[in-house]
Amino acid sequence: MMSKRTALITGASAGIGQRFAHRLAREGYNLILVARRRKRLEALADKLTEQYGVDVRLLVEDLADAQAPARIVDQVRNWGLHIDFLVNNAGFAAKTSLVNSDWADLNREIQVMITALTELMIHFGKQMVPRGYGHIVNVSSLAAFAPTPAGMLYTGIKSYVLNASESADMEFKRSGVHVTALCPGFTYTEFHDVQGTREKVSKLPSIFWQDADAVVEAGYRAVLTGQPVCVPGTFNKSMGALSRLLPESLRYRLGSRGRIY
Ligand SMILES: NC(=O)c1ccc[n+]([C@@H]2O[C@H](COP(=O)([O-])OP(=O)(O)OC[C@H]3O[C@@H](n4cnc5c(N)ncnc54)[C@H](OP(=O)(O)O)[C@@H]3O)[C@@H](O)[C@H]2O)c1
Repeated sequence: MMSKRTALITGASAGIGQRFAHRLAREGYNLILVARRRKRLEALADKLTEQYGVDVRLLVEDLADAQAPARIVDQVRNWGLHIDFLVNNAGFAAKTSLVNSDWADLNREIQVMITALTELMIHFGKQMVPRGYGHIVNVSSLAAFAPTPAGMLYTGIKSYVLNASESADMEFKRSGVHVTALCPGFTYTEFHDVQGTREKVSKLPSIFWQDADAVVEAGYRAVLTGQPVCVPGTFNKSMGALSRLLPESLRYRLGSRGRIY
């Protein structure tokens, strides 16, 4: 049975996106799950349907493909659905330096985390505004607050997500549609395995780390209560606030030593 609310989550096959799927299913949302790994999505869909009795549809898409967002929007329209809750979460970080990167690889980062995110936010946001209802969570990062050399394009991309989310929220909130930039710090997911930095980051003390469920809960509550920016966890909040208070020159010096994050 279809309920009246539908959530679309990108990057639902693992980590924060997968936990968002559980959280929103628990709230009774029917789900549209987007990622590249079909088997992962199918296993998750079976679990969510069994556990929560919600309707789950899958869109196996590579968001680095420039046509993917339009295909997603078309498919949602063809299903006759509208999106009430959008989680723009899919993402990854490259490990190599700028000079050792191919433009094609850098462009994939931009396509997945900027272009696709923006396209989906605007398409579905435009449909939410006249209905006067909707929630959008764009997953940024604590890294948005300060560049580091290790961050490559990533910190710039996440700064864009933070700023674009705030701008969109300023415009949409008058119509009852809320946008939140969720800015997690180090979170236990597959992110650092994909990046190839697991060994290095696992040496960080536990105070740096959060469970994906805690991140999701903070983001969910933030968008429901109309907070445009959510930095989950006390430690991360302090780091984010400190980054914003530091003079630019000091922030640059600390960042270039890679000592802030
Ligand atoms: N974990 C952290 O410490 C941390 C901290 C701050 C911010 N974040 C942000 O949190 C978000 C989620 O990351 P996570 O930590 O949950 O990492 P994760 O466990 O590696 O999950 C990443 C998700 O993104 C999807 N994805 C990656 N590239 C994709 C593509 N080209 N097309 C479609 N889907 C794609 C993956 O699915 P498929 O591989 O199946 O496509 C997967 O579902 C990211 O935006 C990340 O930047 C993470």
